[in-house]
Amino acid sequence: MLDSRKVTASAPGKTILFGEHSVVYGKPAIAAAVDKRVYVTISPREDHLTHVKIGDLGVSGFLDLKNQSIELENGSEMQRGILEYVMKALIKAETVDSVDVDVRLDLPIGAGLGSSAAITVATIMAAASFNQIALTNESIANLAHQVELDVQGAASPIDTSLSTHGGVIYLSKNPQKLVKLEISGELPIVIGYTSTRGNTGELVELVRQKKEARPEVINPILDSMEAVANGARQALIKGDHKTIGLLMNINHGLLDAIGVNTEELSKMVFTARNNGAMGSKLTGAGGGGSMIAYCPGREEEVVSSINQFERAFKINVAQNGVRLENPQE
Ligand code: MEV
Repeated sequence: MLDSRKVTASAPGKTILFGEHSVVYGKPAIAAAVDKRVYVTISPREDHLTHVKIGDLGVSGFLDLKNQSIELENGSEMQRGILEYVMKALIKAETVDSVDVDVRLDLPIGAGLGSSAAITVATIMAAASFNQIALTNESIANLAHQVELDVQGAASPIDTSLSTHGGVIYLSKNPQKLVKLEISGELPIVIGYTSTRGNTGELVELVRQKKEARPEVINPILDSMEAVANGARQALIKGDHKTIGLLMNINHGLLDAIGVNTEELSKMVFTARNNGAMGSKLTGAGGGGSMIAYCPGREEEVVSSINQFERAFKINVAQNGVRLENPQE
């Protein structure tokens, strides 16, 4: 008989405020969970197949969890990757075939909000609950990071940590030692994003090659990024707008120096500054994708100025990380 278990878990996306790329080399980074979530629902099937549907992306397919293979039903070959995150997440939570997985995205695609990490984290929690396995948030974050490493190669634990724990997090060399930053009030941050997306794996590799070829040039830049993140940590806690803005501008320059900036990103970065942002920078891997602007009291002006040629919105911090949406069922 078909059992009636149906579990939904959700997890927030994230945006990196300081320290992308340098975090790959053990430097600190600061990121915020964003109140745009993904929802993963797992329910039983009568046959022995596992089906995944991500309606918002037009992607679906059958998974064979035993043999770890994917049969794409809808979507492009490039989108197959997202089903891999789901498959590996289901396996980490000890799922056996015969489940339906429905993924709903409440976050804009391509805005650099870490949708694959959020999907991975929410899938692990939903599947663990479905399989009646108790997992701490630390284990969920660890398992999700392993999935990211498996699927995309080099990755820091930043995305999976934020989707799991929520809030604003300072992440240092030891990912077990996350520090949640207590920030008073809202973070006055706007995200702008372009339709072109950078490939995170390729951009991380590009920086690695530069570092290898010219360590005497690149290492001091990574050290500066570390100093920027540490300064920003204090400034964020104090609510020191001027310093936060200044450090964002410096961080953008340093990211440009390591080759991950683009003309489109810079156009948004400078438009934000010209319309009242105290600081702005690209965020995430770069090479396209998104930027953030720190604009206390000027959020609306900055959003509408970027919206003239790209897309932008104001973020709110999600204090809650991964959670079950129907724990009583
Ligand atoms: C990508 O969102 C952030 C990078 O630092 C890569 C990573 O941390 O895994 C570029």
